[in-house]
Amino acid sequence: MADTIKIGRVSIKKTAALAPMAGVADRAYRLMCKEFGAAYAVSEMVSAKGICYSDRKTAELCTVTDGERPMAVQLFGSEPDFMAEAVKIVLEYEPDIIDINMGCPVPKVVGTGAGSALMKDIPLAADITAAAVKAAGEVPVTVKIRSGWNAESINAVEMAKALEASGAAAIAVHGRTRDQFYSGKADSGIIREVKAAVSIPVIGNGDITDAASALAMYEQTGCDLVMIGRGSYGRPFVFEEVEAALEGREYAPPTVEERMEIMLRHIRMMLDMSPKCEEMAMHEARKHAAWYMNGFYGSAKFRGRCYQLSSYAEAEALAGEFIQLQSDRMHKSFG
Ligand SMILES: Cc1cc2nc3c(=O)[nH]c(=O)nc-3n(C[C@H](O)[C@H](O)[C@H](O)COP(=O)(O)O)c2cc1C
Repeated sequence: MADTIKIGRVSIKKTAALAPMAGVADRAYRLMCKEFGAAYAVSEMVSAKGICYSDRKTAELCTVTDGERPMAVQLFGSEPDFMAEAVKIVLEYEPDIIDINMGCPVPKVVGTGAGSALMKDIPLAADITAAAVKAAGEVPVTVKIRSGWNAESINAVEMAKALEASGAAAIAVHGRTRDQFYSGKADSGIIREVKAAVSIPVIGNGDITDAASALAMYEQTGCDLVMIGRGSYGRPFVFEEVEAALEGREYAPPTVEERMEIMLRHIRMMLDMSPKCEEMAMHEARKHAAWYMNGFYGSAKFRGRCYQLSSYAEAEALAGEFIQLQSDRMHKSFG
């Protein structure tokens, strides 16, 4: 059995968590990953100011279903008052944890002083965290940060200490600067430094794609939990792989047939949960279909075809063709 860690009052299996990913890790995605053993999930980021002014998308973004727990709802914002107000609204959806995004690099978010812009203003980051902690009461508040704004201003340690002093219950660190966006290699050294500097749990994130890289993150940083983002694209079973490795169990990855079954189940879930018509919902499922076909013979061509899917029936037919292609290829190589 895997160990557990505690974030505030919340117990989490010490295996691997699913990272928040706007536009990717929606409810269907989170449920798929949780089903395959993700220890913890975080919602797509939600604008604190946005939910204070309009409740149009609040329920869709903040609802936490039982299958997703333990789960955090993630907020971004640059004003302590709006953050506190937003926390109170989000609490009605009973999240296990409230997470604050201080790592998002995109100009639309950074331009408002939120996301990774807060790495440049530690006193404000601390005030926002303190306001959220006060509003959240018993619900733990965590913060997700980067290593710094740019290579000349690596300040994750100073930031983490200030956030801990403001009452944060855990810190997730993505070992890249804002300037790196998602390129270059994530630095696990900074995660180790943060872990050594604070006494709250530290979650290590960046470039974990399989059991070996998850174990390396634990070993190199001493972190309390690892978090996987892009490494779960089309591979929700990566969480099962990490868990098996941590427990010293053998792990057999799903066969092509099983992968296609998982893909179709994921697509069905997306279509069922979407308020949109099948064709529009299928547009959102296309990239997922393409990810499930990654890394196989002929997958480049199939990925292109995924981007033309407009119904579930087409996805089913394409999965059948994909399985056939892999099987023909296998017979050819062994025949
Ligand atoms: C498409 C996409 C959307 C993301 N959205 C969020 C978000 O809403 N909140 C957040 O804190 N991080 C977000 N991230 C960053 C990830 O949570 C994670 O920190 C980053 O991808 C590095 O981890 P990885 O190498 O395992 O992907 C996003 C990343 C991607 C690729």
